Amino acid sequence: MTGRPYVLLSCAMSIDGYIDDATAERLLLSNDADLDRIDAVRAGCDAIMVGAATVRRDDPRLLVRSERRRAERVARGLPPCPVKVTVTASGDLDPTARFFTMGDGAKLVYCPSGVADKTREQVGAVATVVDAGDPVTPEAVLADLAGRGVARLMVEGGGSVHCQFLTAGVADELHLVVAPFFVGDRRAPRFVEDGRFPWHPGRRARVVEVRQIGDVVLTRYALSDRCPG
Ligand SMILES: NC(=O)c1ccc[n+]([C@@H]2O[C@H](COP(=O)([O-])OP(=O)(O)OC[C@H]3O[C@@H](n4cnc5c(N)ncnc54)[C@H](OP(=O)(O)O)[C@@H]3O)[C@@H](O)[C@H]2O)c1
Repeated sequence: MTGRPYVLLSCAMSIDGYIDDATAERLLLSNDADLDRIDAVRAGCDAIMVGAATVRRDDPRLLVRSERRRAERVARGLPPCPVKVTVTASGDLDPTARFFTMGDGAKLVYCPSGVADKTREQVGAVATVVDAGDPVTPEAVLADLAGRGVARLMVEGGGSVHCQFLTAGVADELHLVVAPFFVGDRRAPRFVEDGRFPWHPGRRARVVEVRQIGDVVLTRYALSDRCPG
C-alpha cells in the first residue's frame, strides 16, 4: 500500500468542550443511537486507535458490537473487528485490560525505543509491540500501519492523541458529537490541548454533515481533500 491511511477522528464532548469529567467514573456522553453509529463507523475501518491513558482509564473493548456488521466484514474477507492500536511512552499497560483480552484480532502497541523492552515485558504476550523510534509521531505510526495493510484508521481519543493527529496535519475527517450538558470542571480533560492547528480563523474546516441523533448532535468536518462530501 502506498500513502498513509485515511484518518478519521471521533470524539464526543459536552457543550463546554469536555470529553470526560474529573471523577473516577466513566462519563457517558453519547446515547445508544450514537453508539450504534460509532459501531458502523468502526466496522468500516481497518484499525482503531486510542491512547494508553484511555486504555487505562476507560478500559474500552474497541470491538464491533453488531453481529451483522462483524459477519459483513468476514464476508468481505476481513477479520470480524478492526485491528486495535495504542501508543505508550511509559509502557505502563495492563495485559488484563479489555483492549488486550477482548476479541481475537491483532493488537498493536507503539512505543519509543527506550521503553520497547519494558513494554514487551508488560504486554508482549498479548500484543505486538512496535518500537516506533523516539519520539513516536503520528506519521511514524501511520507509516507502520500502512505497511501492515491498514488503509483506514479511526482514532477514538483521548485528547492527547487527537491533538497530535490534528496538529501534525494528518487527519482527514472529524466526527464531533456534542452531548446536551455541561461538565463545568476545569480539572476534566478537554477535546484537545493547546497547539498550533492547521484550521484556525484564517483557514476554516469544511462542514460536510450535521445530524441530530436523539439528544446529541453530530458534526462531520472534512479536514483534507481526501474526505468525500
Ligand atoms: N469523549 C470521548 O470521545 C473520549 C474518547 C476517548 C477518551 N476519552 C477520555 O480521554 C481521557 C484520556 O485522554 P488523554 O489525553 O489523557 O490520554 P490519551 O490520549 O488517551 O492517552 C495519552 C497517553 O498515550 C500515550 N501517548 C500519546 N501520545 C504518545 C506519543 N506520541 N508517544 C508515546 N506515547 C504517547 C502516553 O501513554 P503513557 O502514559 O502510557 O506514556 C500518554 O500518556 C480519558 O478521560 C478518557 O475518558 C474521551
